Amino acid sequence: MAITYSEEIQVERAKTTKINSVDFNNLAFGKIFSDHMFVCDFEDGKWQTPKILPYQPITLQPSSKIFHYGQSIFEGMKAYKDENGSVFLFRPIDNCKRLNISAKRLAMPEIPEDYFMNGLKELLKIEKDWIPTSEGSALYIRPFMFATGEGFHASPADSYKLVIAFAPSGPYFSGDVKVLIEEKYSRSANGGVGFAKAGGNYAGQFYPTQLAKEKGYQQVIWTDDNTHEYIEEAGAMNIFVRINDTLLTVPTSDRILDGITRKSILKIAEDEGIKTEVRKIKVSELIEASENGSLKELFGAGTAAVVSPISGFGFKGKNYDLPKLEDTFGARLKKRITDIQTNKAEDPFGWRIKV
Ligand code: PLP
Ligand code: COI
Repeated sequence: MAITYSEEIQVERAKTTKINSVDFNNLAFGKIFSDHMFVCDFEDGKWQTPKILPYQPITLQPSSKIFHYGQSIFEGMKAYKDENGSVFLFRPIDNCKRLNISAKRLAMPEIPEDYFMNGLKELLKIEKDWIPTSEGSALYIRPFMFATGEGFHASPADSYKLVIAFAPSGPYFSGDVKVLIEEKYSRSANGGVGFAKAGGNYAGQFYPTQLAKEKGYQQVIWTDDNTHEYIEEAGAMNIFVRINDTLLTVPTSDRILDGITRKSILKIAEDEGIKTEVRKIKVSELIEASENGSLKELFGAGTAAVVSPISGFGFKGKNYDLPKLEDTFGARLKKRITDIQTNKAEDPFGWRIKV
């Protein structure tokens, strides 16, 4: 029988709410935070009593290992509300499993699935009024875990904190997305931590992404660290390529995040009768396809990004524009996945979980 922990959650309610000051029809991504958070400490070799507390600052010692050795991982997921006010999560167990994959790689404690799910569901029940329903918005959920344990010795900490915080959010990108295909810097390497959602993976992307932004690109498409000849993924999303009528994406590896949106889009595309291929893609193949007109679409897929069309890419100082098509695979797949997530369409895959 599954072990449940919900009865053990200690709840301290916020004395006031910020909800009335929020414009739910004009939400940026991840800038406003709801009234409560879920917090759980790992101490003395075990997870302690979980708590739901008012959203507030976290106090740490300067010697906490998070500051020195970067033991910090996170997840990204969303909650949706349908027109009847029912609340749904999308494949949440997959996020919990991935959090634990990240935890293992960073020598951090794993969290039992029941513990994670019960905490998340209880917090969602308290914060359900924070779930936006306007087109393109959702309640972004950010579970994260970091080392609180102290010491300057470069070794894993002996205590950790898991937090789940909520941010009612609109789209991740505000306009057109253009990407720069990276030819110098690397996001990850064989045997490294690229497959983990480790905070440091994102910190390492910021400088090359700043350089790309100065040139007018919103995201970098990372290439393999060895040859820079093959595309991998973008800073916050996996990448799909349409060549003629085939939808392609690259295989995941220890350098690439195993995106939940990516695998869902692949399944939906197959269900829609779209021909899919999961294989390595050379930058030179993209350029050739762009030049001979067979490159029809490029889009990113991720929880925050949902399905974000890419209007052009840069490589070695040259720009390549994508055609402006009427009916795109991206638009079709975005509609299907968001309809499933928001309970507007049937979910033949069993991904949607009612809270
Ligand atoms: N790749 C990276 C580097 C990401 O940060 C994300 C976002 O979570 C993704 C891909 C997409 O993953 P998912 O669809 O699970 O959100
Ligand atoms: C997500 O899509 O949930 C992510 O974690 C991407 C993040 C960089 C905003």
